[in-house]
Amino acid sequence: MLSGAVSVHSLDDQGEEVELARFQPGAFFGELALIDAEPRSATGVVVEDSDLFRLDRAAFLGLLDRAHPMLKDLLAGLSAKIRNNNVQYFELRLQKERLRAQAEIDRHRSISQMVAGVAHEINTPLGIVNNAASLITEMITPKAIPALAKDARAEAVLTDLHDAATLIQNNIVRAGQLIEAFKNLSVRNVTGRKEQVDFGGLTEEAVGLYRLKAQQSRLRLEVIDELGEAGRTWEGFPGHYTQVILNLLTNIDRYAYPDGQGGAVKVTVAQENSPRKAPRFRVVVEDFGRGIPEKDLPKVFDAFFTTGRAIGGTGLGLAIAHNLVTSALQGTICIASEPGEGTRVVMRLPKIVEDEPAEEAPRLNERPC
Ligand SMILES: Nc1ncnc2c1ncn2[C@@H]1O[C@H](COP(=O)(O)OP(=O)(O)OP(=O)(O)O)[C@@H](O)[C@H]1O
Ligand SMILES: [Mg+2]
Repeated sequence: MLSGAVSVHSLDDQGEEVELARFQPGAFFGELALIDAEPRSATGVVVEDSDLFRLDRAAFLGLLDRAHPMLKDLLAGLSAKIRNNNVQYFELRLQKERLRAQAEIDRHRSISQMVAGVAHEINTPLGIVNNAASLITEMITPKAIPALAKDARAEAVLTDLHDAATLIQNNIVRAGQLIEAFKNLSVRNVTGRKEQVDFGGLTEEAVGLYRLKAQQSRLRLEVIDELGEAGRTWEGFPGHYTQVILNLLTNIDRYAYPDGQGGAVKVTVAQENSPRKAPRFRVVVEDFGRGIPEKDLPKVFDAFFTTGRAIGGTGLGLAIAHNLVTSALQGTICIASEPGEGTRVVMRLPKIVEDEPAEEAPRLNERPC
């Protein structure tokens, strides 16, 4: 490698990619395949603009021949051994990674279901409280109080009662909004209509919904459409996708560039074609702001994890986004961040959302994120 970066992946038995290594300039790879002419067991993907010096097998062996005839056999033996060791090592790693991914999915799912279940249960008593409070505010209106009260003291008590009931009602509205958000954590409660749309146009529209707010907080929103002419159609749930984009933009506004300082936001959509997978769209939402501390990064998709409770954060935005992307949209989502440099969320969405998806396999965190 002369310049750039290459990420090497292998597939696990679920067909999911796992990053095995990342190479920098000066490194070399693929030498085992040159030596023993066996197919490569992993795939290299260029993740930054790179210059590679590529050597074919004949030239490589020619060089070795001239260096020493025995070298070839020696290296072939060596490579078989290394390959064998590598296979065992990677199998173990894949197994571990799979278990971890499955445990994470289970954890997300059980928390989400619990929260959605509680929200559902609370809805009824809350409705009753709401009715009772509105009964009071309707009966004891400021206008009616003088007629109802026998004396000044009774009038003061009735006024306080009216104010208290109004306070209850206002907070029930807030509780109702929270309950709606909680319910969104469970896919069973999320409904939407499947449509065929131009994916680039949809992204532009979704980001467009935030433009007014962005002006106030001086966010510079840029949508980069790298989809090209063909294969731009998405058969999915525009409402869910829009919700995810809005949740991400709200976070950038609130956390990446706090206090209305403003900054750049890039939303890039592109095709992702892999010979082993159905064609997908890749969406990257990135900011160049404050970033997320390393210790927080593994928790940001958890329901109720927030660093902004004091400024009105509930910790549901990313949990809902994760839920919508991985369940309703059958895709993957991952996050990368460097404190002080910014944050990047990468989503991969199949071009057609299936009506009845195959039994959900654990989706490993794909790399590069
Ligand atoms: N772009 C970002 N830059 C820096 N920190 C971020 C960014 N996006 C998310 N975070 C961090 O991740 C946490 C979780 O985000 P999430 O959207 O789930 O919750 P929230 O925004 O705090 O609350 P809610 O979305 O429910 O209003 C945030 O509290 C914040 O610490
Ligand atoms: Mg949020």
